[in-house]
Amino acid sequence: MPRVKTSLTGIKPTHVPHLGNYLGAIKPALRLAETYRSIYFIADLHALTTIRDPEALRSSVYDVAATWLASGLDPDKTILFKQSDLPEVTELAWVLSCMLATGQLMRGHSYKDALEKEENPNAGIFNYPVLMAADILLYDTHAVPVGKDQKQHLELTRDVAARLNHVFGEDTLVVPEAVISEAPLVLGTDGTKMSKSKGNGIPLFASKKKLRKFVMSIKTGSETLEEKKKAEGTTVYELCSQVSPAHAAEMKEKLAAGNFGWGHAKQILFEALDAELGDKRDGYHALRADEDKLDAVLADGAERARVVAQATMARVRNAVGLRR
Ligand code: ADP
Ligand code: TRP
Repeated sequence: MPRVKTSLTGIKPTHVPHLGNYLGAIKPALRLAETYRSIYFIADLHALTTIRDPEALRSSVYDVAATWLASGLDPDKTILFKQSDLPEVTELAWVLSCMLATGQLMRGHSYKDALEKEENPNAGIFNYPVLMAADILLYDTHAVPVGKDQKQHLELTRDVAARLNHVFGEDTLVVPEAVISEAPLVLGTDGTKMSKSKGNGIPLFASKKKLRKFVMSIKTGSETLEEKKKAEGTTVYELCSQVSPAHAAEMKEKLAAGNFGWGHAKQILFEALDAELGDKRDGYHALRADEDKLDAVLADGAERARVVAQATMARVRNAVGLRR
């Protein structure tokens, strides 16, 4: 077992990441690399539960890889790879599924949510938590940063790892811990949770001109220019404080003084965003245009991940009796 602790982050490639993904998931996950041996992977097998357009999936994988690299993921100090490049994960998922009661999967929140939307969801949705457990257990993961919505998946992962260890030998799998993220909710242009499906997102790497347009479309109060305004609780201010506390402090002071309109406040937010994202935007577009380079980074990551994956699978096969 490795001495340095490992953290693992899985990213489902379903859309071009927006500002909510950046502030709520990407930045906190990249910070983990300071204290853990960090592994990041693009969960393209998981995306197959919903995506039916091969070109969209292929393109999304590159969008996600370029976004994370441009946001600061260092592929030399960490590992970035594509889930489907390591087929060991589906083998481990099978072994784990034989250790899980169907009842536990039937109680899964995401499966139950899917059942509410359609009568007969695909079996990939039912088995989603098993594949996720395999993702985590294959790489000897100690810490998994997740939002509250993924907590149940982590509990299932811990359960199945402990069960397999109990039945087949305590040193077979590392039992991981969930690191529940306290990352604040990022609001969209309409003042509700920013989400791809709601059309209220601020695209991360849109041109300066487009970024400005998105910022100017944020809903605000209708006070007059002269009125003194309260910053707290408004979408413009809350977003700004998540991007740059210094810009937010300036905005708050000016709003409180009066003679400072919401358009002016939005201009400050735009400047904060442009300062945070400007260089990264250029990096993103250069990377996204070079799919060969992205393929090379992902292939190198897969090669390094494979070393760990094959060692885990050797232990698992040996433990359960699949050894040749
Ligand atoms: P969306 O909700 O737009 O479909 P995803 O489900 O792909 O986004 O989310 C991927 C990650 O980004 C998750 O870890 C989630 O917690 C984070 N995230 C998404 N939207 C927000 C938001 N508005 N505020 C904070 N974090 C978010
Ligand atoms: N289920 C996660 C999500 O929807 C993505 C994911 C797949 C994941 N496998 C993982 C996250 C393993 C952490 C660890 O966001």
